Amino acid sequence: MITCSAPGKIYLFGEHAVVYGENAICCAVDLRTRVQVELDESVSISIESVLGKTGIDLDIHPYVSAVIKRMREFASIEGVSIKIDSDIPVGSGVGSSAAVTVATIAALNRMFDCNLTLEEIAKLGHEVEIQVQGAASPTDTYVSTMGGVVMIPQRKKLKNIDCGIVIGNTNVFSSTKELVANVAKLRESYPQIIGPVLSAIGSMSEIGEELVNNSDYAAVGNLMNINHGLLDSIGVGSIELSSLVYAARNSGAFGAKITGAGGGGCMVALMDKAKTEAVAGAIDAAGGSSIITNATEHGIIMESNS
Ligand code: PMV
Repeated sequence: MITCSAPGKIYLFGEHAVVYGENAICCAVDLRTRVQVELDESVSISIESVLGKTGIDLDIHPYVSAVIKRMREFASIEGVSIKIDSDIPVGSGVGSSAAVTVATIAALNRMFDCNLTLEEIAKLGHEVEIQVQGAASPTDTYVSTMGGVVMIPQRKKLKNIDCGIVIGNTNVFSSTKELVANVAKLRESYPQIIGPVLSAIGSMSEIGEELVNNSDYAAVGNLMNINHGLLDSIGVGSIELSSLVYAARNSGAFGAKITGAGGGGCMVALMDKAKTEAVAGAIDAAGGSSIITNATEHGIIMESNS
């Protein structure tokens, strides 16, 4: 039996702008998806999660099913029982699909001796996400595979973040595909306005790189606040997101912003570690669901191999 896990992620800066080649900074967080793989001759393929128990099923378990189909290029994958459990909120911009995808690839890679490197796992994970979703940036699968704080598109590792991190889930569904399309339309309508906004967002990562490496979280928070305002200006904010962002700031966070595509989904706040409970409480009181977490240097982990 083999168990591999992989983390979710937050964006400190740069979502949406990264689609247009601007820089972004992402950070793996210690919310993990665990995938347990066991040889089981009584089944062909069995996939079990909170969504149910299925065989290969592209509707209920699209990512795991697509991974198995792709991995059959490297090995004959049959007679396997796969169990998934996850701390990452599903479909809300914290990277749940990337984590389950790369953790499944890593577990099957070990079980069937496919000899894929971490770079190859991240690349295959990105291809699976494109296949399932139609479009995906390589950010989520790369950060989930490698862990740490990463500057995109250079894939440069920055110093790990050592302060409190609280994620606030609005519990409002949002479609990344739709939001990316809306930003594209706005950019076409007002190129002279939206172009500079996107490049200003990109500049935050350039300035943010040094701030992160100096552990200057108060300054990182200031830039996150500006980034939130710019994301609002390109139409990916919502009243629910801003309520949680303001609740976090008013309870002592260094800064708070949307993380991921926006429209709903999650926001993230950084704060002094002593203030995590206060910020989490304020997010809950404002109608969100808070998750207290930490940055993690660990991407894919082999949890057990017996
Ligand atoms: O909501 P998420 O985690 O899928 O992030 C979307 C980030 C975008 O920049 C909006 C799109 C992308 O593919 O980079």
